[in-house]
Amino acid sequence: MDPRTPVRRTTMTSTPVRVALVGAGRIGAAHAETLARRVPDAHLVAVVDPRPGAATAVATPLGARAETEVDAVLGAADVDAVVVAASSVAHRDLVVAAADAGKHVFCEKPAGMSLVEIDEARRAATAAGVVFQVGFNRRFAREFAQARDLVESGTLGEVRQLRSLTRDPGRGPSDPDVVPPWTIFTQTLIHDFDTLNFLNPGAHAVDVVATADSLLFPGHATLLDHATVVVRYSNGALGTAEASFAAVYGYDVRGEVLGSEGMVTMGEGASSSLRVHGQGGRTASTAHSDTELLRDAYAAELAELCAAVREGRPPAVGADEAFAAFAVAQACIDSMTTGGRAAVATSVLQEA
Ligand SMILES: NC(=O)c1ccc[n+]([C@@H]2O[C@H](COP(=O)([O-])OP(=O)(O)OC[C@H]3O[C@@H](n4cnc5c(N)ncnc54)[C@H](O)[C@@H]3O)[C@@H](O)[C@H]2O)c1
Repeated sequence: MDPRTPVRRTTMTSTPVRVALVGAGRIGAAHAETLARRVPDAHLVAVVDPRPGAATAVATPLGARAETEVDAVLGAADVDAVVVAASSVAHRDLVVAAADAGKHVFCEKPAGMSLVEIDEARRAATAAGVVFQVGFNRRFAREFAQARDLVESGTLGEVRQLRSLTRDPGRGPSDPDVVPPWTIFTQTLIHDFDTLNFLNPGAHAVDVVATADSLLFPGHATLLDHATVVVRYSNGALGTAEASFAAVYGYDVRGEVLGSEGMVTMGEGASSSLRVHGQGGRTASTAHSDTELLRDAYAAELAELCAAVREGRPPAVGADEAFAAFAVAQACIDSMTTGGRAAVATSVLQEA
């Protein structure tokens, strides 16, 4: 969202923002608990999920009401904002419906399944004058935010090389056929593309070369479970984004920026700074889920939603950032399809 775009203020600064959570799956259940217990400015009013029993299982222990239809909260006077944590294919429609109903929206990544969908969601939110935040949680992880500050302040000098990686815990999908095509780019690496963009402020991604394969199910028709992407930026910086669906040691998220005056690294995969020194050497325990490793970042991003709603201002990360990250993911798909370098779109017209 353009920082100058006015956002309607619906909540008095002294009252909590009343939130409905839409999509009570794995991350939705975590967001509901975070909203109810860890974000003082939020009041979880309702949980929505059409899957039988899903909303009740999440809502009841948290003192919220359960609904199976999203219209029940979009028409409710006691809901200021909607947190969309439903399956990605539903994001565009839910964001547009929420904005049309005058509700502020937080939407998990990706904000749509194409650049056209994300642009439609952006337009709906802008037309309605509501806050539209997107779930790029790494921006709210303290060390990633500190790294960005170091880049912005010029401490690292001119940005030359950047890295971001995501490794999902475990041994990969049990059934490769249920993983939608291009998931590694649109659902996983989308975080890394946003992280690279975040760590290289003022520049935009120009083109990519993507390489990916299934190392877990060799020869599978659509599954890509490991990927390495090189992103070239408008300021000449070279970024690398890397993902794996199978890290046996845990959930691993890291970043790095090399500048002309120094280097900064983020993330070490350890769940705490505790080190156990014994006969086997020095060990650290690792986080085995995103909600464990990035627990505080999830709370911080939802607190940012409430702050933006209360203050009547655009959120720290919104539709433009969602569009820019998805544009890199789309270029990766193009690169994989053509086998060569692919341009990153900066507008829907360019994509079409
Ligand atoms: N930012 C992050 O770190 C992060 C982490 C995990 C997932 N996500 C994103 O969150 C979303 C959900 O992921 P998940 O792992 O929880 O998936 P999930 O499959 O566990 O849950 C999705 C839920 O959405 C519900 N749903 C589907 N369509 C709906 C609709 N129209 N209205 C209401 N509910 C609907 C389903 O019934 C299901 O309960 C995805 O978009 C995913 O990309 C983001």
